[in-house]
Order: sequence, then structure tokens, then C-alpha cells
Amino acid sequence: MERTLVIIKPDAVQRGLIGEITTRFERRGLKIIGMKLMLIDEKLARRHYGVHEGKPFFEGLIRYITSAPVVVMVLEGPNAIEMVRRTMGATKPLEANPGTIRADYAVTIGRNLVHGSDGPETAVREISLFFAENELISWDRCTDAWTFEE
Ligand code: CMP
Repeated sequence: MERTLVIIKPDAVQRGLIGEITTRFERRGLKIIGMKLMLIDEKLARRHYGVHEGKPFFEGLIRYITSAPVVVMVLEGPNAIEMVRRTMGATKPLEANPGTIRADYAVTIGRNLVHGSDGPETAVREISLFFAENELISWDRCTDAWTFEE
């Protein structure tokens, strides 16, 4: 089992795509074990995207990700990191395969709708930036909610 962090970015939230994007991950069978709507402050944005500091697009990226609400979630499942990356499509929407989120809804790399962790160490680091361990749900401790009860 793997866990990965997904961010539905401000452009996707403002375009009303929270449901559409979330549905694609759910339909693949990934489990949502944490989820919240939030504003990312500048300090958190700089930590999350620290690896890109100094690149020409960095300050614009910080302005973009802090500009409006995002939905952050932790998804769990076998090979969740790669599963999410393939469901999102390539970072550059032009290069994303048809049927992926970015191919279907995005045009430019600077407004590519969604973020997913790019590897196991990154996933652990990114999840800990956005969620406390006690905010994440262990589904195997839950009972089935769809069986009828008298
Ligand atoms: P993301 O998967 O969130 O990881 C880093 C982000 O930086 C990336 O998606 C893009 O939103 C952004 N990014 C990467 N390269 C560029 C670029 N050349 N110009 C603008 N934004 C970029």
C-alpha cells in the first residue's frame, strides 16, 4: 500500500472541477483517507514547492497556489503514487495522454489543475506538510455502511 498527496489547484476549484477530478481517482479504486478545502499560505507554499526555488516560474507558482482555495487529499492504494500520476497525465498538458485529467481539462503547464507527489519520499514529506497523522482515516477499521439495518 502507498499513500500520496493530491492538490486540486485553485484553477480547478474555480472552474468547478473538484467533483470531476475526485471522481476519476475514486473510480480507479483509490481510497480517500484525508481531504480538506483550504487556503495555502505563502510559508506552506514555499515549503511544499521548495525544490523549485530559484527557477524562473517559482514566484508565479507561489502566487498561483496561494491565490484561492485548493482541495488537498491523501489517496491510498497499491502503487498510489504512480496511479495518481498516470491519472493526472504529464505535467505539460500538451504532452498528457488523452483521457487523463490534464489532457482533458488543461492547456498550460502553469495552470495544470492538479498536483500529485512524484515519489515515495516526496509523498511522505508532502503528506506531513498538510495533514496530521490523526487526520488520516484507517478504512480497515470501519464497518460497511451500505448494509441495511433494522
Ligand atoms: P506540479 O505537479 O504541481 O509541480 C510543480 C509545478 O510547477 C507544476 O505542477 C507546474 O504547475 C509548475 N511548473 C513546472 N514547470 C513550469 C514552467 N515551466 N512554467 C510554469 N509552471 C511550471
